[in-house]
Amino acid sequence: MEDQERQRLLAQYSEIASLAGGLAHEIRNPLSTISLNLELLVEELQESETARDQRMLTKLQRVQQECGHLDEILNAFLQFARVGELELVESDLNSAVREFVDFYKPTADESGIDVSPHLESNLPPVRLDGSLFRQVLMNLARNAQQAMPEGGLLELQTFVRDGFVRLEFIDTGQGMNEATRSKLFQIFFSTKPNGSGLGLPTVRKIVEAHNGTITCESDPGRGTRFSIALPPA
Ligand SMILES: Nc1ncnc2c1ncn2[C@@H]1O[C@H](COP(=O)(O)OP(=O)(O)O)[C@@H](O)[C@H]1O
Ligand SMILES: [Mg+2]
Repeated sequence: MEDQERQRLLAQYSEIASLAGGLAHEIRNPLSTISLNLELLVEELQESETARDQRMLTKLQRVQQECGHLDEILNAFLQFARVGELELVESDLNSAVREFVDFYKPTADESGIDVSPHLESNLPPVRLDGSLFRQVLMNLARNAQQAMPEGGLLELQTFVRDGFVRLEFIDTGQGMNEATRSKLFQIFFSTKPNGSGLGLPTVRKIVEAHNGTITCESDPGRGTRFSIALPPA
């Protein structure tokens, strides 16, 4: 591609990206006003016992749910759009994983999920943006949790192989078929009724911004393994 053409496409891409980001922000403010007023209405109706008010309450709660869904989509979208300005710091992957496990354990317990870290000692350091990397761990854990509605086991393994520092997320959830597996990282691809389909695209974008790679293997009905490989610092 010619240099001039590249420049033109790049400028076009930046314009669309900033428009989309701006749009998401613009939607967020009125949405939060709507949610706040809904909450006040719901509180008021909860005090009434007439059949009509109870019917209104049910409908408003439905609207509230949908506002929550919109808010989640906007957050996922903004997270995706924001990846870019990384602050890479030489870090110990095991510490990042341990910190995350401490944070996530109460949520996991509530869903009957056993989180089991197997962390190889003396890993070489890697360069991480701590806050973005937490998003990776959170998104992978949330997907694993959603794949194990009856509970199960989530193993987090770290080790070194072929010169890369590796992190694997292994769940005993429902797994996925080949059709789903091949679309995992596509923007807006989701098999969930309220899924944003932005979780894994964000994960991949962040991992790649760390010069890493992410792959997935899955066995329908048995579970799924996500493998991240990071270059040593
Ligand atoms: N651990 C997992 N087990 C089974 N399926 C998964 C897992 N992680 C992701 N998926 C599949 O990949 C799809 C895309 O995931 P994601 O990008 O996080 O979007 P979302 O979670 O909003 O659907 C999910 O809808 C699901 O079908
Ligand atoms: Mg997800």
